Amino acid sequence: MQAKEICVLGGSGFVGSAIVNKLAAAGYIVRVLTRRRESAKHLILLPNTKVLECNVLDYKALNNALRGADIVINLLGILHQTKGQSFSTIHQQLPSQLTKICADLHIPRLVQMSSLGASRNAPSQYLRSKGAGEEALNAARDVLNITIFKPSIIFGRGDKFINLFASLIKTLPFILLAKPNAKFQPIWVEDVATCVVNSLEKSATFGKTYELAGPKVYTFKALVQTIMQTLKTKRPIIGLGDGLSYAQAFFMELLPVKLMSRDNIRSMELDNMSASAFPAEFGILPTALESVIPQYLINDTQRGDYDRYRQSAARF
Ligand SMILES: NC(=O)c1ccc[n+]([C@@H]2O[C@H](COP(=O)([O-])OP(=O)(O)OC[C@H]3O[C@@H](n4cnc5c(N)ncnc54)[C@H](OP(=O)(O)O)[C@@H]3O)[C@@H](O)[C@H]2O)c1
Repeated sequence: MQAKEICVLGGSGFVGSAIVNKLAAAGYIVRVLTRRRESAKHLILLPNTKVLECNVLDYKALNNALRGADIVINLLGILHQTKGQSFSTIHQQLPSQLTKICADLHIPRLVQMSSLGASRNAPSQYLRSKGAGEEALNAARDVLNITIFKPSIIFGRGDKFINLFASLIKTLPFILLAKPNAKFQPIWVEDVATCVVNSLEKSATFGKTYELAGPKVYTFKALVQTIMQTLKTKRPIIGLGDGLSYAQAFFMELLPVKLMSRDNIRSMELDNMSASAFPAEFGILPTALESVIPQYLINDTQRGDYDRYRQSAARF
């Protein structure tokens, strides 16, 4: 039987790279759509993997790029809005357009990456727009085989969240922590990728939405303490009340590099944890954060450099 062809939107990113590696290893033919080929250059050496430049927000261009695919995986997501890229365009309009294009082109299978807590009534624009995207997909469940994943924060080599706090711990004398009691249930990027890849041809997952969360719930403060323990570096943590959390985020929004916004703080009003057990369908148990983060936080060693080199050369 001919291998299925999978088109991945957002395949160059943190989660996308883990998924594309697993797809290539599983023998699929993979098409990665990117705005700039350069962003996906770490994937071009993978077997049966093509990187195509495409503006996925242009209906016609996307239609052409998806032609002939059997499965579409949409991983596009942004944490901060900028000129020309709004939450609504990326999180709502794109999934809606994807359902139309998949139906037109007779592509039967669509997998969408949403976020834990996403819903129309969520406290932040980010989560509300992700919720609206889920609704657009749910409306097409009669015509397409759709699966939606809703992960908590995702950790792993190259993540933004754990690595950001590791850098802050290394450079600052103390940590001013917004929303110290906010709760998270972090999940390993490789576990997320395994679930996505295992779902593709499993009909039991069609029409379903899965929350993906790790084995342990942490408060934000406990998570930062865990990173400190891993780095063997102690810093005082000054937890900020709600008013100061929003004030700090307001000033961070003025920085050229987007670290934290008031919308991100609003997302933390909601505990980012799953009410259900890890889905049994995917044949794995989620991996503990403590067993993974030392591999990339304590890696300013030759071994770490070697691992990074191997990863970028896609040899595992
Ligand atoms: N990381 C987490 O902790 C986490 C937690 C929950 C949910 N998620 C969801 O998981 C998905 C993947 O997240 P990630 O952490 O892998 O994100 P990422 O590393 O930022 O990757 C996102 C990808 O989206 C593409 N993209 C971004 N803006 C775009 C735009 N305006 N037009 C076209 N493409 C655009 C980028 O591709 P190019 O630059 O190559 O075009 C990039 O590869 C997202 O939907 C995110 O909301 C992530």
